[in-house]
Amino acid sequence: MIVQTIGVVGCGQMGAGIVEVSLLAGYDVIVYGRNEDIRPACQARVRSSLERAVGRGKLAADEAEAALGRLRGVAHLAELAAADLVIECVAEELALKQGIFHSLDSILPPAAILASNTSSLSISQLALATGRPDKVLGMHFFNPVPVMRLLELVRGLHTSDETLAIARKVGAYLGKITITAPDSPGFIVNRLLIPYIVEAIGAYEAGLGEAALVDSAVKLGMGHPLGPLALADLIGLDVTLAIADTLYASSGAPSFKAPPLLRRMVAVGRLGRKSGQGFFEYRR
Ligand code: 3HC
Repeated sequence: MIVQTIGVVGCGQMGAGIVEVSLLAGYDVIVYGRNEDIRPACQARVRSSLERAVGRGKLAADEAEAALGRLRGVAHLAELAAADLVIECVAEELALKQGIFHSLDSILPPAAILASNTSSLSISQLALATGRPDKVLGMHFFNPVPVMRLLELVRGLHTSDETLAIARKVGAYLGKITITAPDSPGFIVNRLLIPYIVEAIGAYEAGLGEAALVDSAVKLGMGHPLGPLALADLIGLDVTLAIADTLYASSGAPSFKAPPLLRRMVAVGRLGRKSGQGFFEYRR
C-alpha cells in the first residue's frame, strides 16, 4: 500500500506540526478540525511556521506555497475518506479517541491505516474500537514536530508487520528516525521523561530552588537544551498532567504520580507557553 494522502485529526500544536512535516514531505494532507475557528487557525499556524522557514533561508517561497496548496481543512470526519493514513492527535482522553477511531473505521477504505499520536494511552485498547486492529498503531511525535528527529512507532498487540513497515517508510519520508516501542505505559520516551518532570515539579514545590535555578542546573550540568520545568511548559502543563494521570492509573508506579502543584496550576489555567504562564512567563 502506498501512502499518498495523510489525514490529521486535531490541530493543536502537535497536529499542526504533523501537518507541516507531512506537507513538506510532499503528501497531500486533509486536516479535520471540529469547529469553525480551529481550521483557519491551524492553516495560519502552518503558514506562519513555513514563512519563518522561508525567512531563515531554509525553504524556498514557492515550495512553501506548493506545500500549502496540498493542505485541505475539513469540518466532517467523512471528508477524510480519501486518506491512506490518518494520524489522530486530539486530547489524551480514551473515550474521545475511541469514538474517533470507531467513526473513521467506517469511513476509511479497508486498507487505510489508523495511527494515534497518543503519549500515554494503550494502542491495543484503541485498536479495539475498530474492525481493523491489525492496521492500528501509535505514531508518537515530539514537540516541536518540525525539529525533533524521533518518531516512536508503538506496536499494539494486534498491529501487523505490514502496518509497521508502512509507518516506518512514512516516518523516513517525514525525515524522522523511527524506533519501535512496545505498548507499555509511556512507551520508551515518556516512561523516562514523565518521572523526571514529575520529580522536578515535586522538588520545586518542596523548595529545592527557584525555577530558573533548577532548570539552569540541568542545562549546565547535563547539556539539556531545556530544563525540566521549561520543558513541561513547552509540552503544556495540562498535557503533562493528563499523561502523568494516565500512566499512574495504568501502571500504579509512584514515579508517575502528579505533584499537587501541577494539578493546582492546571486548575487555574497556568498551562505553560500556550497560556503565557507556567513555571516561566512567555510573551504571546
Ligand atoms: N518549528 C520549526 N522550527 C523550530 C521551532 C518550531 N516550532 N522551534 C525551533 N525551531 C528551530 C529554529 O528555527 C532553529 O533552527 P536553526 O538552528 O536551523 O536556525 C532551531 O530550531 C533552534 O531554535 P531556537 O534557536 O529558536 O531555540 P532553541 O535553541 O532554544 O531550540 C528547541 C528550541 C529546539 C525547542 C530546543 O529548546 C529543544 O530541543 N528543546 C527540547 C524539546 C524537547 O525535549 N521536546 C520533547 C518534548 S516531549 C514530547 O513532545 C512527547 C510528549 O508525549 C510529551
